[in-house]
Amino acid sequence: MSTADARLPIVVLISGRGSNLRALLAAAQAGAWEPTFGVRVVAVISNRADAPGLQIAREFGVPTQVLSHFEFAGREAFDAALASMIDTHSPHLVVLAGFMRVLTRAFVEHFAGRLLNVHPSLLPAFPGLATHRQALAAGVRVHGATVHFVSSDVDAGPIIAQGAVAVRPDDDEESLAQRVLAVEHQLLPRCVALVARGDVWLDRDQVCARPEVAPQLVLLAS
Ligand code: GRF
Repeated sequence: MSTADARLPIVVLISGRGSNLRALLAAAQAGAWEPTFGVRVVAVISNRADAPGLQIAREFGVPTQVLSHFEFAGREAFDAALASMIDTHSPHLVVLAGFMRVLTRAFVEHFAGRLLNVHPSLLPAFPGLATHRQALAAGVRVHGATVHFVSSDVDAGPIIAQGAVAVRPDDDEESLAQRVLAVEHQLLPRCVALVARGDVWLDRDQVCARPEVAPQLVLLAS
């Protein structure tokens, strides 16, 4: 793919800091990846007007939109409006990069097979919040991050790829979070590219991958 127009459009949803968004935008910059990343972020949507990640999108010249969930009577109404907003961009994929909302079944089904999330644990261990605290409390020796297709059960969709880090004896929540975040920043762009190119796909509830890309679905950091 040699022209910007040939790259597949994706929409990224955020709620906060936006470091995974930055990793995606950096990867999507022309020439940043070999083979070509093949994906273009066409819009960043936040449910919070004060999300620092919106500034990151602007830095990269990507249009931003805010849809506040506080302005809707319920989850269904918000998700329906969000789906309509996303659809105006006709994205090939929708990426949740720190989007802190539980999504309705209708929303998830609308984007089935095209909706990816990054979660800071080795799922199915430690779904939900405070995953690093949960990992330290459980005494696990290995922790990490997961990119998965989104299903209507929170943090439970079919797993695309995982990256692992060793838990060190002197780790606290912050030090562990930092190493896991570095893994997320590698894993998420990689998965987005693989799914966008059709090297990885969802068939009913199963993740399928072309055999030659299988090694890219596991990342072992030190
Ligand atoms: C990441 O750890 C992500 O896995 C989780 O929320 C955090 C968002 O961080 N869902 P950032 O906004 O991408 O910096």
